[in-house]
Amino acid sequence: MKSSPWWKEATIYQIYPRSFFDSNGDGEGDLPGITSKLEYVKSLGVDAIWLSPFYTSPNKDGGYDVANPRDVDPRFGNLADAKRMIDIAHSLDLRVLVDIVPNHFSDQHVWFQEALKAGRGSKERARFHFYDANSDGTPPNNWISLFGGPSWTQVEDGQFYLHLFDSSQPDLNWDNPDVAEDFEKTLRFWLDLGADGFRIDVAHGLVKEDVLKDHPDPQGLSDALRLDMPMDPERRYALLPTVPYFDRQGVHEIYRKWRTIFDSYGSREVMAVAEAWVHPPVNATRYVRADELHQVFNFDLLDAAFEAEQLYGLMSAAIDLMKSVGSLPTWALSNHDSPRVASRIGDLQSRALALFVLALPGSCYVFAGQELGLPDGVIPDEARQDPIYFRTKGVQKGRDGARVPLPWKGETAPFGFTSGKPWLPLQEGWKDLTVEKQESDPKSTLNLYRNALNLRAEHLVNNGEVEWIDSPIHGSKSASLLAFKRGNVSIYMNLSDLPIEIEVNGKLLVVSGGIVDGRDGKVTIPPVSTIWLHH
Ligand code: GLC
Ligand code: CA
Repeated sequence: MKSSPWWKEATIYQIYPRSFFDSNGDGEGDLPGITSKLEYVKSLGVDAIWLSPFYTSPNKDGGYDVANPRDVDPRFGNLADAKRMIDIAHSLDLRVLVDIVPNHFSDQHVWFQEALKAGRGSKERARFHFYDANSDGTPPNNWISLFGGPSWTQVEDGQFYLHLFDSSQPDLNWDNPDVAEDFEKTLRFWLDLGADGFRIDVAHGLVKEDVLKDHPDPQGLSDALRLDMPMDPERRYALLPTVPYFDRQGVHEIYRKWRTIFDSYGSREVMAVAEAWVHPPVNATRYVRADELHQVFNFDLLDAAFEAEQLYGLMSAAIDLMKSVGSLPTWALSNHDSPRVASRIGDLQSRALALFVLALPGSCYVFAGQELGLPDGVIPDEARQDPIYFRTKGVQKGRDGARVPLPWKGETAPFGFTSGKPWLPLQEGWKDLTVEKQESDPKSTLNLYRNALNLRAEHLVNNGEVEWIDSPIHGSKSASLLAFKRGNVSIYMNLSDLPIEIEVNGKLLVVSGGIVDGRDGKVTIPPVSTIWLHH
């Protein structure tokens, strides 16, 4: 069953276009390549695809540096290819979400080029954040870019412009009406082409406050904002609310306006999901108020340990938080910005966790390749492309590992992804992970996802709330058991290395790994495994 509206309990498959499938042998995935694999996507049992940017871009930040948001970059094809992809997806009953990047443009966008030429004080510069240097020549403030280094770059006449990310990504000034108007045009452009909605990049970042003020601890703040930076939680929680460029009240006015545009498409059920990193977590609920957006990403599982107490805490908190505003959470184990879950917590662990999460209420985002159990690619430094690697002078390796192209078939790299040289190297060791190999193995990760997604649609979508059965706070017999019931299904995850026996009756629907032994009202859950039982 599908939920109503469609996105309420959807499974959304994230495609990184450059890494999905190359149709013309230039080593990079493209839109015709995606179109040619939509049957495969459909076969997974997902409801929708979300595509990372494929717009005109110099590609300094994987296309999140947009030079023309209303056109397709030639490396991916053209607008007719986009239209065809959307139409074919629709014919397969798959919805299509596209990425929108409203925090910044590329420095190659015509507006920025005009701003450079027009000079200080011009209306062209007012679309960005251009300011004079301080009297001692330093940048207008001491903010640090999220990609490392200063948030400001100086232009020829001495002014600085603000960029929260790479210097090739000047931040837009949302106080300027030209900016809002241009984005409304872009939203309508893609909706009119047939898109069903948007993933909003850096949705919490559009409005800045105190642009001319120094932050008291810019390095601390920069570290606090980074998931991979270990920090005492108290220090982190004290710093996060002080960020002057995220989660300001003004962003909500923007989404209220956008919502009226989405709603004007009526029965098409247009939806938008916010990429919003906010603190405290309750602030996330503001993005999904009735007159704002439909979903907000919950990133908690991207860096959670495979540990019962922590997972129980994060999952139950996310469910309760969204319930408090009549909404459902979203779940993601991997995306193009973080290490792949199979590398981060292990192969069996990631299968168990995925099967557990696919039973939770709300929408699940699955990053292409996750259904193959793909690990991060091993990338030689000279092949790296992520601006994070360059801006931190190699101190941080960046996000390329998760972006390695998908292995489709055959015995040697690049496994059918391209007939040319892939833009990032695929690993020889992936020969048993190809779609071709996994299709013919009933126990493969691919078939686990397919089974789980079918069973989810049959038994769980629209089927009520979670009732926790076992967890560290439910008097669980084992510190490594998590279990809940939803509708007629109970879901048990054994996080330990030993089998766990439970007393329960029910028919086994699916197991993430190992052999389940069940008789006389007792079921043994294999080590590091999740099972679904039907009652
Ligand atoms: C988002 C994207 C990331 C990009 C950044 C800047 O976080 O997911 O890939 O680098 O925004 O646009
Ligand atoms: Ca190509």
